[in-house]
Amino acid sequence: MYICAVHIGTTYTSGRANLAALLDGVAQNRRIVIIKRPRAEDVAKIAAAELSGWKICANGITIGESRGGNEMKVTCLNGSPRENGNSTLIAKRFCDTAINLVAEVKTFALNKLDYRGCQGCYACKTKFDRCVLKDDLSEVLEAVRETDILVLASPVYFWDVTAQMKGFLDRCFSFLVPDFHTNPKRSRLAPGKKLVFILTQNNLDQNSFTHIFEKFDYFFRGFGFTDTRQIRAFGAREPGAVASDPELMGLAAKTAEELCPGSH
Ligand SMILES: Cc1cc2nc3c(=O)[nH]c(=O)nc-3n(C[C@H](O)[C@H](O)[C@H](O)COP(=O)(O)O)c2cc1C
Repeated sequence: MYICAVHIGTTYTSGRANLAALLDGVAQNRRIVIIKRPRAEDVAKIAAAELSGWKICANGITIGESRGGNEMKVTCLNGSPRENGNSTLIAKRFCDTAINLVAEVKTFALNKLDYRGCQGCYACKTKFDRCVLKDDLSEVLEAVRETDILVLASPVYFWDVTAQMKGFLDRCFSFLVPDFHTNPKRSRLAPGKKLVFILTQNNLDQNSFTHIFEKFDYFFRGFGFTDTRQIRAFGAREPGAVASDPELMGLAAKTAEELCPGSH
């Protein structure tokens, strides 16, 4: 009997005959752990999901998955009105990779939601600890509160993000405490979240529109985000243009691998 813990998303060929190959090769990158003659505590440890995101095989047959409660939460907001637009495709590659790394992913197409921009009522500073508006964005704001990784994907529209994305960003004002100007702990969000900011544009000049990420990076660091990344596409006009750019799509996948723990 041997127990084999395989990280979900890793290709595993089951069977006793492959045990040596697994040990020699794939196991080297720590995505597969072979436990020969398992002790009860090994099995208990995996069952208790201490190794979250692993598939458990006994003699090559899958006997369970340790998708414990501690997988990463990813919230992805698509700001393009084009369903298969370039920014959405890059975000999708990130999210698909994250799912394979056992992240729990929630995706919202902002263009399909019914919501208003911030009303400047300051109720989130004087009466409540949340945005007082009750519309489709309420669920999105709650998801952002809970998330570990926030993915914001938008085309550049007139030197900025789309109106759909800006509407969400303004409502993030509710994440700030009332005395945010003076309070060193100015955010209502748990610290340490990660941001992936995806921007696509028609302009080929990589030095254009750098101000967009810079300003939102500043705000999200103010909300307590500590790891912020940007992924940008240039010269992308037709929907789907980025699909033929393996380097860019590879960067989206690599970024997910870097940000989701346990993926190495
Ligand atoms: C209303 C509008 C404004 C745009 N403004 C810009 C711009 O200022 N700079 C630019 O490089 N591209 C601009 N574009 C092009 C888009 O940014 C580009 O096609 C992008 O890849 C579209 O992303 P999507 O496929 O995710 O929708 C604009 C497009 C539209 C429709």
